[in-house]
Amino acid sequence: MARVLSGVQPSGEMHLGNYLGAVRQWVSHQQEHDAYFCIVDLHALTIEIEPQHLRERTLDAAVNLLAAGLDPALCTVFVQSQVPEHPRLTWLLECTTAMGELRRMTQFKDKGRGQEDVRVGLFTYPVLMAADILLYDAERVPVGDDQRQHLELARDLAQRFNQRFGTTFVVPDAAIPQVGARVMDLQHPERKMSKSVSSPLGTIGVLDDPADIERKIRKAVTDTDGDVRYDPSTKPGLSNLLDIFAAASGRRPQEIASEYQRYGDLKRDAADAVIELLRPVRERHGEYSADLSGVRAVLETGARKAHEVASATYLRAAEAVGLLMR
Ligand code: TRP
Repeated sequence: MARVLSGVQPSGEMHLGNYLGAVRQWVSHQQEHDAYFCIVDLHALTIEIEPQHLRERTLDAAVNLLAAGLDPALCTVFVQSQVPEHPRLTWLLECTTAMGELRRMTQFKDKGRGQEDVRVGLFTYPVLMAADILLYDAERVPVGDDQRQHLELARDLAQRFNQRFGTTFVVPDAAIPQVGARVMDLQHPERKMSKSVSSPLGTIGVLDDPADIERKIRKAVTDTDGDVRYDPSTKPGLSNLLDIFAAASGRRPQEIASEYQRYGDLKRDAADAVIELLRPVRERHGEYSADLSGVRAVLETGARKAHEVASATYLRAAEAVGLLMR
């Protein structure tokens, strides 16, 4: 079974875009792959965050992943900081990374914007991410398109290390495994659904109750030509609803469009499909939230399993660079 690894920031509630765009694919990966999911709390420290929030969101992220359907019997869910090899390997990799390589990272350029007080951790963020991937000999890394450049860096670092110190790391596949639906904001269909852009009516949380989901979809921005047609460039709002409906029902948006004459009917049925899609997520969320010690136990087991793999890789790397082993 191919080893798959992905990482998720502990950043609060999951929305429909995260779920349909990534997490649902992970749930299907766990069946045919040896899958690892890492809650990257060390990455979260690269920007200002309240200690108590970080701790809560880390546990929330675990609850959300399990609610979304990750099954601890099939995959490994763990918290990055609970496996000490992540920062240890990061150091070894940093010592083979050029400043210029990190300066080119578009995410750093966007977030850092040349501020004098930008943190070193934000600068070296991609190296920590490379360590996350390389520690587990991951072949496939399902991430969003915005992480493509970071994945490329992980490949470069692995290849360079292998060349300089002998084969140590598996070089991950450059191809990002098939991604899920791209879900746009319901009020501003030209931009991605995102919780960082505050748009309460535009974002569907996976835990929203059915009445809220129904209301948000009913109020979703469409257009005035009244024709139900799938055409993302001229009808972005309506096409987004068709995409969401299609992803929720496993059908094609064009096929769905052909069955409707009125926006209102389409919205009603799209809302029903989303409500049904999210119902089991909401239910599992209730169960896991009521059993946080069970969730902690899942993370404990996950950290132990992850540590077994990570420590073997780290030892290989440490030995290769010439550290004196105990
Ligand atoms: N940087 C990724 C993001 O923001 C999260 C991440 C951290 C990650 N480590 C990873 C993703 C390792 C895949 C593999 O989405």
